[in-house]
Amino acid sequence: MELTIGVDVGGTKIAAGVVDADGRILERLRVPTPQSVDEIDSGIAEAVEKLKQTEAGRQVAAVGVAAAGFVSEHRSTVRFAPNIAWREHPLGDIVGKRVGLPVIVENDANAAAWAEYRFGAGQGSTDVATVTVGTGVGGGIVLDGRLLRGAYGIAAEIGHMRVVPNGRACGCGQAGCWEQYASGRALARSAFELAIRDPKAAAPLIEAAGGKIDGLVGSMITEVALSGDPAAIGLFSELGRWLGEGIAALANVLDPAVVVIGGGVAEVGDLLLGPARKAYALHLSGGANRPHLQIRPAQMGNDAGIIGAADLARTR
Ligand code: BGC
Ligand code: NA
Ligand code: ZN
Repeated sequence: MELTIGVDVGGTKIAAGVVDADGRILERLRVPTPQSVDEIDSGIAEAVEKLKQTEAGRQVAAVGVAAAGFVSEHRSTVRFAPNIAWREHPLGDIVGKRVGLPVIVENDANAAAWAEYRFGAGQGSTDVATVTVGTGVGGGIVLDGRLLRGAYGIAAEIGHMRVVPNGRACGCGQAGCWEQYASGRALARSAFELAIRDPKAAAPLIEAAGGKIDGLVGSMITEVALSGDPAAIGLFSELGRWLGEGIAALANVLDPAVVVIGGGVAEVGDLLLGPARKAYALHLSGGANRPHLQIRPAQMGNDAGIIGAADLARTR
């Protein structure tokens, strides 16, 4: 049985693992994501080298790297990333030369979507879209059992659909993108704005942030919401509405049977999924006369990127 290594390069950490053909992680490690593009290359190569020295790692045949950016159709170069400084960066070649193994690079959300389709919440259907809600909003689309990559590798960049004319500026160079309203960062921004506008209502949130409202992050808002705080719950309802509306639009283009919602903020569960399902149903075109897709929570958690990238490297 062929083993491969998956590496998930996120904004805060590089997580890597040796993965088997059933999507099980046999060995794993994580290190903080360094600042510069060169250091990130080295961080990935070092993580792979370390894993290669484990018992399972000695049997590894290839490496898949999940990267939060626009990856070329050849699955090697990161053309552009809105939230990391990659510009026409030959990540696959660089890491491949250092580690002496075939390396494929895949968009992080594509990798996560592939993992959910193969081993997680998307199992049992051939048409599955995954929305990954993190720093940005990522997308991965499996249609007819195949991962959609597009002519230039940039398919499924759903976070950059314009949902508000001349809205908030986005790292992609445009304005009004979905990820400016439906991401974890957008959630934190709404919490910050609430804390300024209505500090009384936001008191539990402010307390969770130790009084530093510019330090309010998704995990804190999740915790406060799960404790029953109405203001924090309201923030997730708002985020859910944005997600549901966008999913209704996606349904018109893709007509998937299942939409999986993943990423850190999805861990709050029904406080997010409930409003998302409601907004989806409300905004679905011709909604009374068509089958409705299912919105499901992701099952692979933080491991989706590792497992998906590793599996895609196996079928390279
Ligand atoms: C990027 C995507 C990425 C997503 C999630 C977006 O800003 O454009 O490439 O998949 O964030 O990380
Ligand atoms: Na994608
Ligand atoms: Zn954008």
